[in-house]
Amino acid sequence: MVSRKELFESCRSDMESADIDTARFDTLCMFQDVLKETVPMLRPDETVPDEAEETLRNMTKRRCQGEPLQYILGEWEFYGLPFKVGEGVLIPRPDTETLVDQVIDICRERGLSSPRIADLCSGSGCIAVALKKQLPEAEIWAVEISDKAYGYLCENTALNGTDIHTVKADVLKKETAGMFSGLDIIVSNPPYLTSEEMNDLQREVACEPGLALFGGSDGLGFYRAISQLWRRSLKNDGVIAFEFGMDQHDQVASILSDSGFSCPKIRRDTQGIIRTVSAVKSSTEPQYIDNTV
Ligand SMILES: C[S@@+](CC[C@H](N)C(=O)[O-])C[C@H]1O[C@@H](n2cnc3c(N)ncnc32)[C@H](O)[C@@H]1O
Repeated sequence: MVSRKELFESCRSDMESADIDTARFDTLCMFQDVLKETVPMLRPDETVPDEAEETLRNMTKRRCQGEPLQYILGEWEFYGLPFKVGEGVLIPRPDTETLVDQVIDICRERGLSSPRIADLCSGSGCIAVALKKQLPEAEIWAVEISDKAYGYLCENTALNGTDIHTVKADVLKKETAGMFSGLDIIVSNPPYLTSEEMNDLQREVACEPGLALFGGSDGLGFYRAISQLWRRSLKNDGVIAFEFGMDQHDQVASILSDSGFSCPKIRRDTQGIIRTVSAVKSSTEPQYIDNTV
């Protein structure tokens, strides 16, 4: 039987040879997960049971083949809460906590104690679940199209004991938006990568579903569609809040303005990158010029 220290070094070194930059961190996470200890290397000379060794070597092999650590562990933390993840669902990112913070602040500033909120393109449900935990009186709908992601969404609402209305539907359809009215807030982290970015994905990101990543040739398709299709689902003076990719803020703000939203407020993530925008539904309908030829 092998000692913890020997096995740790062997797994870490295999990952380093496979160009995994976070080899030490990933090895530690796997050891914590399999040995069910927060600081497994406190007892480096202890032997590892055969079954645990086999599991750890298999996990290491998958990681060396480029599978994301989060899929291998099967669970990841967002906003201090556990979320089940795996093939077919986007892994919740820390950047998205900025969007959750912004929505919570909007509710507090407006004195909304029981807001009606729709989370569009909900994926794992990380935004909807984190909001419900912070705003227990809120009524929250989470809308997701993918079968696999929807499965995780339902699992995660149950795992966190949150009472959220889950809806399996296409947010780009007029009929879906038509099912909702009187919302205080629409929040969304939609797919936003461009065609060019899709051709140059990091190895781990390429394992995540294309449906969760691709936002149309210029990456902005969902912002245009949601701003226009879902405007009527909001109350007068309701708010829309989006997350977007790096350097998309000007374009998203301009889409919002063209769609009848005003007072855009941006927010930066912990790295200082402008990551989210919220805007208020204006009282007047946007005037579209029909440019059909
Ligand atoms: C960028 S991911 C965001 C997931 C989650 N909200 C988060 O922040 O981690 C976008 C999600 O939108 C879903 N999606 C893509 N097209 C959709 C559509 N037309 N209607 C509803 N959901 C859609 C994808 O399956 C994916 O789960």
